[in-house]
Amino acid sequence: MYASVSSDCIGCAACESICPQVFRMNGFGIAEAYINPIPQELEKLTKDAANNCPVEAITIE
Ligand code: F3S
Repeated sequence: MYASVSSDCIGCAACESICPQVFRMNGFGIAEAYINPIPQELEKLTKDAANNCPVEAITIE
């Protein structure tokens, strides 16, 4: 499973709060997924983060 953050991100940081193992804010105030592929034990949290993004900026495939 892979996660990516689109340019729709508004920097609300919910993803980082929910799953800091995968998402972190970069220097521009935008989230990045910095572990890919997502380790199996983090898949559920990663999906939770994606589902809680207010602008649906996180794509999982
Ligand atoms: Fe951006 Fe959504 Fe995360 S707005 S900071 S990708 S929760």
